Amino acid sequence: MELSLDFPKEVVMEGKTSIVVPKLDAYVKEAWEYAPSKAPVFYNPTMELNRDVAVLALQTYQQTLNKEISVCEPLTGCGVRGIRLALEVQGIRKIVVNDINPKAAKLAKLNAERNNLAERVFVMNEDANLLLSRYAAPRKRFDFVDVDPFGSPVPYLDSAVRALRDGGLLALTATDMAPLCGVHPRACIRKYGGKPLRTGYCHELAVRLLVGCLTMTAAKHEIGVEVVFSHSTDHYIRAYAVLHHGAKQADNSVRNMGYFLHCFTCFHREASKGILHQWKRKCTECGSRLNIAGPLWLGKIFDKEFCVSMEKGAWRDLGQKKKILKLLRLAITEAEAPITYYAIDKICDKLNLRIPSLTKTVDELREAGFQAVPTHFNSRGIRTDAPAKNLKEIIAKLAT
Ligand SMILES: C[S@@+](CC[C@H](N)C(=O)[O-])C[C@H]1O[C@@H](n2cnc3c(N)ncnc32)[C@H](O)[C@@H]1O
Ligand SMILES: [Zn+2]
Repeated sequence: MELSLDFPKEVVMEGKTSIVVPKLDAYVKEAWEYAPSKAPVFYNPTMELNRDVAVLALQTYQQTLNKEISVCEPLTGCGVRGIRLALEVQGIRKIVVNDINPKAAKLAKLNAERNNLAERVFVMNEDANLLLSRYAAPRKRFDFVDVDPFGSPVPYLDSAVRALRDGGLLALTATDMAPLCGVHPRACIRKYGGKPLRTGYCHELAVRLLVGCLTMTAAKHEIGVEVVFSHSTDHYIRAYAVLHHGAKQADNSVRNMGYFLHCFTCFHREASKGILHQWKRKCTECGSRLNIAGPLWLGKIFDKEFCVSMEKGAWRDLGQKKKILKLLRLAITEAEAPITYYAIDKICDKLNLRIPSLTKTVDELREAGFQAVPTHFNSRGIRTDAPAKNLKEIIAKLAT
């Protein structure tokens, strides 16, 4: 029986791509309902920025390789991401897009055809892990795999890592922020193998937990991980990592694993590299018990040059250009800034102080000789090498 796409649809534009998607208005009866998951095929317009950034990251990556590349999007929904990559990124030889939902695969095929991409975009309809495993052999592997699922990408990590060639780029979206930000710590330990903490900088810890999980997964396959970009936007996080084959590379990546120690009494925090050694359990500043996050990634989560190159590539027509430029500007300064940030509103809450302006706080920290930059993770966050004590003194001074 011929599969029917006989449901309410509409045509939308994203980037250079005109695409047929389910008419989301037709699927919400109550204002609180989440339309994308009610529709027969998945399409979420609020993820446009996620896709815009993917276009920039992939173009940057392709330029560093300077050759034609192959791409796989194993969980594609209506096909918008893969089709946008095919149309907007120069130097793509082929893209395999796939969805387990037959209606999604059919709509993705229709979308590829109406954008004249039938010769470069190949649409499949099977389980993502099966698909990726079929491309795991040498010479069959992809240059780029974009895992953009519902919730956590962890169920697809092993097969995605295996389906990438040496030097390939992997992109991961995670939308399960409740586990990753410490609302459901057990779920996070179960899925990501690391303990989260509900700190002011939990979104950065979330990226580090995701990358930590990727690192340990890739290490099993003797593959190392180099993170070139990451961001936290709306209700998801995203990480881009280049994979390097070899036991040595894997060992070097595992050396970046460790724990984060945080004091909820005074905001002091410290990183402790290594997963096997003992750490002090008392806060060196105030003597309180330290709480632990991890094991998680303590290495860099942005590559400055990569971010600069993405920024250079952002001249193109992107729906979310303004937000992306802001994100990239912040990421460029964050690339060389200290690990974790202080959420000044959380400090003020605890000290019962008025929240000072972020810019003034940054200026004061710099005047006092510390490094200080804002962060895209939190509009009230500051990355600084100042100890919590000095930061609190500056905040108290500004609050008077
Ligand atoms: C979040 S949506 C994908 C959105 C898409 N990447 C985009 O940018 O618009 C997740 C998709 O994964 C599909 N899916 C769920 N489980 C799958 C599996 N095991 N294999 C392949 N596709 C799957 C769903 O049908 C859904 O279309
Ligand atoms: Zn303390």
